[in-house]
Amino acid sequence: MINTNYIKQGWFLSIAFLFIATSCKHKEDEYHSVTDKIEAKSKHYKGISISSEKYTGNLKLLEITENGITFSIPERKGEIKSYACTECHSKPLQQMQRKDLKKAHWNIKLNHANANTMNCTTCHDGNNMDNLKSITGHSIDLNNSYKLCSQCHQKQYKDWTGGAHGKRIGSWAPPRASLTCVNCHNPHSPGFDTKWPARFNTQVAKERK
Ligand code: HEC
Ligand code: HEC
Ligand code: HEC
Ligand code: HEC
Repeated sequence: MINTNYIKQGWFLSIAFLFIATSCKHKEDEYHSVTDKIEAKSKHYKGISISSEKYTGNLKLLEITENGITFSIPERKGEIKSYACTECHSKPLQQMQRKDLKKAHWNIKLNHANANTMNCTTCHDGNNMDNLKSITGHSIDLNNSYKLCSQCHQKQYKDWTGGAHGKRIGSWAPPRASLTCVNCHNPHSPGFDTKWPARFNTQVAKERK
């Protein structure tokens, strides 16, 4: 005797298999790759376009390309109260410096590298104070001060271009915007104080005994 139930089940399975097989094939034809599919499907996803722009819209950003990577950083000159420096620095620094008066920038104390490595004019251009300058004497715009830092801190600079050092602004969707070095580090005193836990953990101390 042949079990008809068994045959019916077999039929059902093969029809289901055919259905799955043909539906897969259909999708493969429509999109060449998974990335193509994601791109096409997310273009107008329920009327929402995926972009960081609405979170960074109020910020003044500058687009830069470093290490072959293009992203945006915040503008700086507008944030510096004493800019434009040339309002006072109308002549070369040497002609302005006087020993008998209190320092004009008495509030700035260098706590970066030692005095053999660095003084004010290692970074600032004494002949045109509105700009920074490289070790070899090239002019660097104050908006691009990362170019100054990268001379001596290549590792952090490279990590930063890749997004591993620093912080992203807006959201993770493109276009990418990231904080620049001086948003976090004061160039005159770039280190951070060591942090200790807020409270002595008595529980852990007990467990260690
Ligand atoms: C209100 C006037 C004023 C402004 C604005 C100003 N400076 Fe100065 N700065 C001075 C004077 C005056 C001196 C020279 C006397 C001294 O060293 O105290 C000086 C000296 C300096 C020095 C040399 C300090 C030293 O110890 O050798 C640097 C570097 C400097 N300024 C950078 C800047 C930069 C960068 C800006 C703009 C972001 C700026 N200054 C804006 C008045 C000013
Ligand atoms: C390691 C490089 C470096 C050195 C050394 C340095 N500066 Fe600066 N300085 C900068 C950068 C970069 C900025 C712009 C920071 C920003 O974008 O906010 C700046 C900003 C300033 C400003 C404007 C902002 C403020 O804090 O008032 C003044 C004035 C200034 N520097 C003076 C000095 C003086 C004076 C010295 C020496 C005592 C000095 N700098 C040494 C890199 C340096
Ligand atoms: C001329 C070379 C030079 C330039 C330009 C320079 N640095 Fe430095 N920096 C040093 C040296 C040297 C040290 C001290 C040695 C060390 O800790 O690596 C240092 C230390 C530091 C530290 C560590 C401080 C600490 O306490 O651990 C930070 C952060 C830093 N720099 C950030 C910056 C930033 C941001 C800029 C650009 C505004 C910059 N540096 C520009 C040479 C430089
Ligand atoms: C979002 C904030 C942020 C930005 C942007 C940023 N840094 Fe840092 N950086 C940090 C923090 C936090 C540390 C760790 C400090 C510590 O461990 O005490 C650090 C550490 C460092 C150190 C010390 C080395 C170390 O590992 O302890 C250097 C040098 C440095 N940064 C340079 C840079 C340079 C150059 C740039 C720009 C190309 C930059 N940073 C951008 C936050 C930032």
